[in-house]
Amino acid sequence: MPAFVIGVGKTRFGPTSKTIPQLAQEAIVDALRDAEIAPEDLDAIIVGNFLGGPNEQQLHLNSVVAGLFPGLNLPSWRTEAACASGGVAIHQAVLSLSRYETVLVVGVERMSNVVGMELTRNIGMAGDVVLDQLEGLNFPASYALVARSHMAEYGTTTRDFELVSLKNHENANKNPKAHFYLKRVTQSDIDAGATVAAPLRLFDCCPVSDGAAAAIVSSKPLDARSVRILASAVSSDVISLDQRSTCTSFAAARDAARRAYAEAGIGPSDVSLAEVHDCFTIAEIIAMEDLGLAAPGEATALIRAGETRIDGRIPVNASGGLKAGGHAIGATGVGQVYEIVNQLRGEAGTRQIADARVGLAHNVGGVGGTCSVHLLRGAR
Ligand code: COA
Repeated sequence: MPAFVIGVGKTRFGPTSKTIPQLAQEAIVDALRDAEIAPEDLDAIIVGNFLGGPNEQQLHLNSVVAGLFPGLNLPSWRTEAACASGGVAIHQAVLSLSRYETVLVVGVERMSNVVGMELTRNIGMAGDVVLDQLEGLNFPASYALVARSHMAEYGTTTRDFELVSLKNHENANKNPKAHFYLKRVTQSDIDAGATVAAPLRLFDCCPVSDGAAAAIVSSKPLDARSVRILASAVSSDVISLDQRSTCTSFAAARDAARRAYAEAGIGPSDVSLAEVHDCFTIAEIIAMEDLGLAAPGEATALIRAGETRIDGRIPVNASGGLKAGGHAIGATGVGQVYEIVNQLRGEAGTRQIADARVGLAHNVGGVGGTCSVHLLRGAR
């Protein structure tokens, strides 16, 4: 069954006092306007969300979002796969096209209303609670172990992490919907950043963001602005780092990438741009290697040579990524598709990538427990 994204919408990511329904509504209205269709044209709704229960004491979010369309009584459901909830929701939409023609996917998250240890504990539910989280291995600490492993195996340095951070902050300055759109980040800001979990410091971490993103997926294209989903793959792995044989690569990402390339009949060299899950700067490096955009241990050579910048050979995270674009957990995977669709249409403004033809979205849950990979091609 062919699949197309016919409309996309997004709120700005970042702290806000808006509620989950308000955030979802803003992104949905944006997407419906973009597609120039009415709510009556939708056949189903899928909601990607992670923290509604622990942060908001609000579950049953499919009904909350469906309630924005009173009287339509659309089939709706929620997907939860931690930080990959949005990517998995897009996958579900593609699968459901055998029954429904036009499916609205909404990723939404509210995080900034909970702070400190309570938020760390809630985010920690994405990891193995018994083996890792209760032992103190929270998310920054887990990715710090991943960073140390990569440094030991491949000679990766903290300077490489800084280059990823500087690039993504520079890209976010070109993205009005990014968390850090208005924040100029220089080397001296990075130098002044506190250590979060050594070797990771403040500017190696994604921020805590609220936000929503929407994508309308259909089995029929609307017009030349419709973007084809060439492949949609989801893979999983054991949840705890403790159960893995390596920390320098995520098997779920490698497997999802392999399946996506096979489904699309293309390879990494055909990808014009990638939005990857850089919840920590080391994660962008590992993502490039897991996706075959660089050989193991060689992503840093591309980063040092500036090849992942907007004007480079393989631009990565033109939106600012999670690092600077923001990480509203359940919305992130849908937000990546929003960016790629805009790039493939040639509508990405000052961060437009020249000759963008095929885009890749890579969305990770936990420390590699789940990964979705989507490949999209524009009509240009
Ligand atoms: N990068 C850059 N700046 C950041 C930042 C980040 N990740 N997080 C916060 N800041 C800035 C804020 O904008 C604020 O700047 P201002 O003083 O100019 O307004 C300042 O730092 C203090 O913000 P605050 O919210 O008090 O920071 P914090 O110390 O409480 O939180 C982190 C910092 C890194 C602990 C927090 O962002 C975090 O937990 N990030 C990871 C979230 C996560 O684990 N997500 C899931 C990934 S799998």
